[in-house]
Amino acid sequence: MKVLITAGPTREPIDPVRFLGNRSSGRMGYALAEACVHAGHEVLLVSGPCELDVPGHVDFIPVETAADMFEAVRRHLGRMDAAVFAAAVADYRPARPADRKIKKQAETLTLELVRNPDILGSARGEFGFRGTLVGFAAETESLEANARDKLRRKGCDLVIANDVSRPGLGFESDRNRVLLVYPDHSEALPEDDKHQLAHKIVREIEGLRSGASKAP
Ligand code: C5P
Repeated sequence: MKVLITAGPTREPIDPVRFLGNRSSGRMGYALAEACVHAGHEVLLVSGPCELDVPGHVDFIPVETAADMFEAVRRHLGRMDAAVFAAAVADYRPARPADRKIKKQAETLTLELVRNPDILGSARGEFGFRGTLVGFAAETESLEANARDKLRRKGCDLVIANDVSRPGLGFESDRNRVLLVYPDHSEALPEDDKHQLAHKIVREIEGLRSGASKAP
């Protein structure tokens, strides 16, 4: 199958030398890209700035901002069989990035932020995507309820939820523990290395594609 994967953080410019970013390392998305290739799938990886090596045999589109990522996904989603949105996309960006470096002057500086487009939330409606849609949910509370709500609102077939309140797991870590949230049931996977988890997740996506319904 053809799979589009978004990964990494986005960078939202404040001025030519500064940006708003986040702690996403990109590891989960890159591990998924590698696992998909390993399983014989065609991968397009749309990634914010990461320090990771791009896995071999992957088509790669590097992006910086959420707007860039939105545009890349909009352009390519139509020919995909599945899409996995693992990027940590900034919800807000500075309203008016300065064209010159902001000098320090007053004691306080206020930045006005505006909402970014919701890429995952645009897949079913605006982009008309009919393939298998997988989102991530990083939550610090009510993990399953929030993930299930996201699954419904965004028309996902699967939401992979991770509790980011626990130190040593998730963001900036090699390990993760996730809950797979499907429309009719949930399944907790044991804590594991992100590469091992990626292989399991790819098998789940293949299962969704083949219509193999897993009993609750
Ligand atoms: O609503 P929330 O940001 O928690 O949703 C997380 C999921 O939505 C992730 O799959 C993330 O990649 C995706 N997302 C997106 N575009 C945004 C925000 C989140 O694709 N602007």
